[in-house]
Amino acid sequence: MIKQFIDFLLGLRWGDEGKGKWASYLLCLFVKEKKRKYKAIVKANGGSNSGHTQEHEGKKFVGHILPSGALFPWITLLIGGGVVFDPVKFKKERDELKKMGIDISNRIFIAHNTILASPFEPFIDKALEYCKSGEKIGTTGSGIGPALASDKYRNGLRMFYLFREDFTAKKNELFKMQKNLLLKFYDEYGYKADINLVDHAETLWIQAIEEISAEWICDMSEKIMELSEDGDILVEGSQGFMLDVDWGDYPFVTSSSTIPTVLCSSLGIPHTAIRNVYGVIKPYETKVGGGPFPYRMDAENEELFRKAANEFGATTGRPRSCGWLDIPTLNRAIKITGTNKIFISKMDICPVEKMKVFVGCKKDYMHGFSEITVGDLVSEEVPGWKNDTPVANLLHHDNFINRISGHLKTDECRVEIVAVGTGPNSSDYKEVFI
Ligand code: GDP
Ligand code: IMO
Ligand code: MG
Repeated sequence: MIKQFIDFLLGLRWGDEGKGKWASYLLCLFVKEKKRKYKAIVKANGGSNSGHTQEHEGKKFVGHILPSGALFPWITLLIGGGVVFDPVKFKKERDELKKMGIDISNRIFIAHNTILASPFEPFIDKALEYCKSGEKIGTTGSGIGPALASDKYRNGLRMFYLFREDFTAKKNELFKMQKNLLLKFYDEYGYKADINLVDHAETLWIQAIEEISAEWICDMSEKIMELSEDGDILVEGSQGFMLDVDWGDYPFVTSSSTIPTVLCSSLGIPHTAIRNVYGVIKPYETKVGGGPFPYRMDAENEELFRKAANEFGATTGRPRSCGWLDIPTLNRAIKITGTNKIFISKMDICPVEKMKVFVGCKKDYMHGFSEITVGDLVSEEVPGWKNDTPVANLLHHDNFINRISGHLKTDECRVEIVAVGTGPNSSDYKEVFI
């Protein structure tokens, strides 16, 4: 039987649930004999559309391309084949870490089949959004969709090309095609990318790829197996289940999968090696892009939550819309991802007397999702913990947690709430025993 050494850490909602913070919690765990539990963390999907915040011992770092382990020197950092690798962002993150006195060059590895983003894909992403009729997706404009599309067309770049003789020819071919496409957006739709910005992006890209060392490129399947001799491996998902390309509210989704078994395949590891799937939620919901959000709060409550929890995107700075927690889609996310353990971030945040939780829908909830209105939803009120002292706070948290826990379909999924967040720092949590 295969050893189970893989734990997944995933967002179960629309991203920004606090994955970076819980990665810190897990990476700092010790097991028996004072041995640290994890040896490495792998970023499995997404790219510069994601932003994972970590705060640890006075240091703060937001990773977009790097997995959430840079602040922990004992952790090896891995970038998997499913990631859209933006070399300019990668350089920026390395430089930022260097300024903080952290050198990652001896503990970073990138899969040979990682998708190497081109400098023009963010412009194409924005052009596609501009030309779209109807409601916009609200893409972060990082070029993730076009990069994954080029990859599927099989004219994209992958990391291993960087060290091949035909790299320049391959790159020029792609760049020419993409520049022509940008011109077409202008001719046909009047979308004009700023030529100075386009040229500048290309220059920065060429400088950034110079700094990528061949020593970092690896066969990820082999690398993970090798590292697993010294400890477990944490796989960090980007985005969240509700943004999944197959299970989210298409087309208001990102372009990649968020499901562990799919991510295992891109990393070259057997799904039978998965032991735990940790899913992250908040006591309320947030969403940044377009598409349906039927349980959105009224403007007054939304403002209270946004202010109290500083709900602005870690990548784009856009204000996040806030809504009440929706249990049916949460149960669905738990089931499809195979989540067995839950973290609830931001339990220190409750700016209202009463919290609301959606527990059902009068319609066929899953299949008619996009047509659901607030009137179709069935909700419950749960006491808030706005004015409590920190100690009494925990009692009320337990109320909320018990209520949530009671609604989770534990018979189908055997899921348990492991810990709640009480602040952004790696040490701001309380373990839950229910
Ligand atoms: P991710 O994309 O899931 O990693 O989440 P982001 O980093 O984009 O956004 C989560 C935000 O919440 C960050 O600013 C975190 O520092 C912050 N955060 C995480 N956990 C907690 C918590 O328990 N309490 C508070 N107040 N903030 C938290
Ligand atoms: P992390 O990993 C929140 C959203 C965008 C948009 C949709 C498509 O930090 O949780 P894309 O740029 O992928 O084409 O955008 O997906 N989105 C995220 N929202 N957190 C993220 O990542 C996101 N990554 C993408 O806002 O609605
Ligand atoms: Mg984020």
